[in-house]
Amino acid sequence: MERGVSVTLLCLLGLGLMQSKAFEVEIKDASNKTCIYASMRVNFTIQYETNSSMSKNTTFEMPGNATASRSHCNESEDASLLFIQFGNGHTWSLSFTKNNTMYHGSALTVTYNTNDTALFPDALRKGLITSTTNFLSSIPLNTSYRCVHSEAVAADNVSQIFWNVTLQAFVQNGVIGREVVCDADKPAPIPSTTPTSPPATTPTPPTPTPTPVGKPAIGNYSVANKTGTCFLATMGLQLNVSRKIDGKNIWLLFNIDPNITRSSGSCSNDTATLSLSDNSTTMEFAFAIKKNNFYLQDVNVTMLNGSEPVSKSNNNLSFWEASVGSSYLCHKEQTIAVSEGLYINTFDVRIQPFGVRDGKYSTAEECFADSDLSFLIPIAVGAILLFLIILVLLSYLIGRRKSRTGYQSV
Ligand SMILES: *[C@@H]1O[C@H](CO)[C@@H](O)[C@H](O)[C@H]1NC(C)=O
Ligand SMILES: *[C@@H]1O[C@H](CO)[C@@H](O)[C@H](O)[C@H]1NC(C)=O
Ligand SMILES: *[C@@H]1O[C@H](CO)[C@@H](O)[C@H](O)[C@H]1NC(C)=O
Ligand SMILES: *[C@@H]1O[C@H](CO)[C@@H](O)[C@H](O)[C@H]1NC(C)=O
Ligand SMILES: *[C@@H]1O[C@H](CO)[C@@H](O)[C@H](O)[C@H]1NC(C)=O
Ligand SMILES: *[C@@H]1O[C@H](CO)[C@@H](O)[C@H](O)[C@H]1NC(C)=O
Ligand SMILES: *[C@@H]1O[C@H](CO)[C@@H](O)[C@H](O)[C@H]1NC(C)=O
Ligand SMILES: *[C@@H]1O[C@H](CO)[C@@H](O)[C@H](O)[C@H]1NC(C)=O
Ligand SMILES: *[C@@H]1O[C@H](CO)[C@@H](O)[C@H](O)[C@H]1NC(C)=O
Ligand SMILES: *[C@@H]1O[C@H](CO)[C@@H](O)[C@H](O)[C@H]1NC(C)=O
Ligand SMILES: *[C@@H]1O[C@H](CO)[C@@H](O)[C@H](O)[C@H]1NC(C)=O
Ligand SMILES: *[C@@H]1O[C@H](CO)[C@@H](O)[C@H](O)[C@H]1NC(C)=O
Repeated sequence: MERGVSVTLLCLLGLGLMQSKAFEVEIKDASNKTCIYASMRVNFTIQYETNSSMSKNTTFEMPGNATASRSHCNESEDASLLFIQFGNGHTWSLSFTKNNTMYHGSALTVTYNTNDTALFPDALRKGLITSTTNFLSSIPLNTSYRCVHSEAVAADNVSQIFWNVTLQAFVQNGVIGREVVCDADKPAPIPSTTPTSPPATTPTPPTPTPTPVGKPAIGNYSVANKTGTCFLATMGLQLNVSRKIDGKNIWLLFNIDPNITRSSGSCSNDTATLSLSDNSTTMEFAFAIKKNNFYLQDVNVTMLNGSEPVSKSNNNLSFWEASVGSSYLCHKEQTIAVSEGLYINTFDVRIQPFGVRDGKYSTAEECFADSDLSFLIPIAVGAILLFLIILVLLSYLIGRRKSRTGYQSV
């Protein structure tokens, strides 16, 4: 290792009795020059669980006498770390990385010690708890970041409010660079006489609004075995999934993107499977044969729900039927019910699970929905109904005439 050794120096501010004091540190590198400068005020609000299983908030400020002895600047790497220890075993650290022009903060880690009875008098869980988030976006090298206005950063159970911040990493030759100020500190474009509320940055929560999705792109998928391509499929796939959001069931649509979907599967004389997966969803289609026709028998979908994989399947289907040796074709949208909360919408399907020759589809058998004849169904039903009505009417009339003649003959 090179001289990654670092010497640190701690400057203490506010040695007087003033209770509010910023902490300020200068981290020195191997040549005893400042490489990180930080001066800031930080308020923490930490939510923790108490003995009585209640949630409670504790709020405190990073004290001015925090120490930074485990910080380091490693010149051989493009990374450095500001590591602050304070109070009864609490730590705060911010790592920095840089490229040729910019530097930025990466992990902001807070570790708090719930054994500290002054701050967490009745904590259920005793010990060190860590929360990590991000802080400090890209700043040009040789400049320092300055923000007097407050900024809020929240993660897990820890909310932090920063204010009066001056921060610079990768300081060159020990000289703190000119300041770049945060947006909140920039003078307002229109001077206003009415007092404005302090612009605190509130992190916008991700809103799960269902975004409209169009038709899915059509993908070409295939399965090969040792004799070559044995399974061909061309189709657009869309999942229609029920999710509980804020206590309400809503239907979300996900299009399968063929560009990031891999296909695999197996082929044998009487069964064939096609497995499609992207980084979060796996779908398996299993085909069987009955009376010289193939059909889709099983569908299995595994989706990530948060980080939990959830599997749903339907093993009792009778879908996409065509004779073995030909392919099945259907341009119309179709829906396969996998489970109560999961449907697959399919578009422009052409599929051949058996008897693929030379990697090409055999003649297609088109689904009835596509055929021009399908419009005849209502006409045929109407005609049959009309015929039945006439039949009933006729038999009624004949019956009446018969009974009348019978009456007269008496
Ligand atoms: C670093 O510089 C300070 C004064 O700026 C001096 O007191 C200290 O001894 C120096 N340390 C080393 C290792 O040179
Ligand atoms: C604790 O603070 C967080 C945000 O800072 C807030 O959402 C939560 O309601 C507070 N909890 C209690 C018990 O005051
Ligand atoms: C920091 O200051 C507090 C009082 O403000 C004091 O109780 C504590 O011992 C000090 N810690 C160190 C490491 O000097
Ligand atoms: C340095 O990083 C910034 C973003 O952090 C990026 O915009 C810029 O292109 C990068 N410069 C180089 C030379 O990689
Ligand atoms: C930063 O300053 C040092 C010397 O002060 C200089 O060598 C270096 O090129 C500067 N870097 C940038 C990106 O301006
Ligand atoms: C902000 O910090 C500077 C030192 O960086 C200090 O001189 C100034 O008094 C602080 N201002 C407030 C409002 O805390
Ligand atoms: C998704 O499924 C639900 C329930 O079956 C249905 O009401 C909705 O129309 C479907 N959406 C699409 C786009 O298929
Ligand atoms: C897939 O990639 C092609 C070109 O590589 C591109 O034209 C097409 O828009 C992409 N489709 C999707 C759904 O991203
Ligand atoms: C599959 O079919 C081929 C030709 O039709 C036949 O040679 C082979 O023995 C069959 N394999 C099995 C396991 O039935
Ligand atoms: C899947 O990959 C795409 C692009 O490769 C990415 O945008 C998406 O966030 C990834 N999803 C998951 C759950 O990793
Ligand atoms: C469906 O997926 C689950 C989990 O991956 C697996 O255990 C099961 O065997 C699959 N069923 C079918 C019919 O492929
Ligand atoms: C996803 O998980 C949430 C909670 O963990 C659950 O309420 C929901 O039903 C799950 N959704 C599916 C499709 O399994």
